[in-house]
Amino acid sequence: MTTKILKFPNGFLWGTATSAHQIEGNNKNCDWWKWEQSKKYPDGVNVHSSDDSIFEEREWPLEPSNDACDSFNRYEEDFDLCVKMNNNAVRFSIEWARIEPEEGKFDEEALNHYKKMILAAKSRNLQTFVTLHHFTSPVWFMNKGGFANWNAPYYFSRYAKKCAEVFGADIDAYLTINEPQVYIFMSYINGIWPPAKRNPFSASWINVNFTRIHRAAYDAIKSVSSDYKVGIVRHIVWREAFSRNHILYPVDWFVAKVMYFLNLDFFMMLVGKKNDLIGLNYYFTEIVKNFLPNNPDDRISDLGWWICPWGLEKVLLSLKKYNVPIYITENGIADAKDQLRKEFLFEMIHACHVAIEQGVDLKGYFYWSLLDNYEWHHGFWPRFGLIEIDRENNLERKPRASADFYGKIAQENGLEIIS
Ligand code: BGC
Repeated sequence: MTTKILKFPNGFLWGTATSAHQIEGNNKNCDWWKWEQSKKYPDGVNVHSSDDSIFEEREWPLEPSNDACDSFNRYEEDFDLCVKMNNNAVRFSIEWARIEPEEGKFDEEALNHYKKMILAAKSRNLQTFVTLHHFTSPVWFMNKGGFANWNAPYYFSRYAKKCAEVFGADIDAYLTINEPQVYIFMSYINGIWPPAKRNPFSASWINVNFTRIHRAAYDAIKSVSSDYKVGIVRHIVWREAFSRNHILYPVDWFVAKVMYFLNLDFFMMLVGKKNDLIGLNYYFTEIVKNFLPNNPDDRISDLGWWICPWGLEKVLLSLKKYNVPIYITENGIADAKDQLRKEFLFEMIHACHVAIEQGVDLKGYFYWSLLDNYEWHHGFWPRFGLIEIDRENNLERKPRASADFYGKIAQENGLEIIS
C-alpha cells in the first residue's frame, strides 16, 4: 500500500461558506423574516397584515428561522471552528437589511458589528470572502419592487459603496450577488420564496437587471479603491446529453447546450469585464434525456441531489474561457448522518485537482456549509454542516467526522491518495 498527496498550488484557499439569514438569527428587517413570520405554525394557517400585499399565502416555508444558529452572537466561536479545521479563508454574507434598515439610512451599530466580525476573521488569519446579497433584502426595497425596479442598481450600489468605504481592504473579495438565477427561479417562477410571484416576464427582466445591478455595484466598490476584488457568484448545473446511442442524442445535446448558455454564458456576456473573479456554486449535474433534464438517483444527498464530481470538472473547464480566477464558493451535501460527506469531499476536491492540472485557474474551495443552517423553505431538516448544530441543546456546535477529514486536507494543502 502506498500513500501519496495530490498537492494544490501554494496559497490555495480552504474555507467554508455560510449566509447571514441562514445562521445569524433574528434578522428582522428583511423580506424573508416577514415571510416566515407571516405564517402561523404548526397548523399551517397563514396570517399577514393588510399592507403586505406582496406576500401571498403559501404552504412554505416549513418553519421560521428564529434564532437560526445564533451566529450573530457566536461568530467568534464559529471562526474558531474554521481555524480548528486549518482553514485559511471563510465566506459569509453581511445583511443589507441590517445595514440599511430604512431607505438611505445606514445603521452604525450594524456596520460596527460587521466590522468587528470581519476583523475577528482576519485576526485568525482567515481571508474574507464576503457576499453582499444572499437571497434576503430589506423590506423597504422589496416594497419598491425589489430587483425588478429600474433603479435597483442605484439602491444596491449605494449600499455596496458604503460597505467598501467601511470595510475597505479587510474584505479580501467582495461578492456582489449570490446565485441570481436561483433567487429568480424560487421567487419569481416557482413562487415559494418571497415575494412569491409566478411571472416569467418579471423573471426574465430581473435576470437582465441583475447584470446592471452587479455592474453598478462593481463600479461603486472600485470607485472607493480600484484594488478591491469584486466578483459574482453563480450556481452552475452541468447538463449532459443522455447517450450518444440514444436516437434523440442530437436534440438532447442541443437542449443541454442551450440550457447551459441561458444558465451561464448569457449572463456573463452582459456582465462583461466587470468581474475580477467567478464564484462557482456547484451542487449537481443533470442528464438531458428526451428534451428533459433529470437528476439520476444512484447516489444522492438527503435532498435527492445527485453526487456527480465529473460534472464539477466539466463546469470548471467551461469557465476557463472567462480568463479570471475561479473560486468554488459553495459545494456541499445535505447528509444528516455524515455517511457520504467524506467521499463527497474527496471526489469533489479530486475533480478540482484534475481541473487545475488541465489549466483551470482555480484558487480556492469553500465547502457549504460550516454549520447546519436554515435551509430556506425546507426549514432546518437538511443538514449541510461539517459542524452539527444540536438544536435541542442550546445550539451546541459538534464537529462531525467529516470536519476532521476536511481539516486534514486543508492542513496538507492536498488530498491523500492511498493505493
Ligand atoms: C445557496 C445556499 C443554500 C444551498 C443549499 C445554495 O444554492 O446559496 O443558501 O443553503 O444552496 O441548498
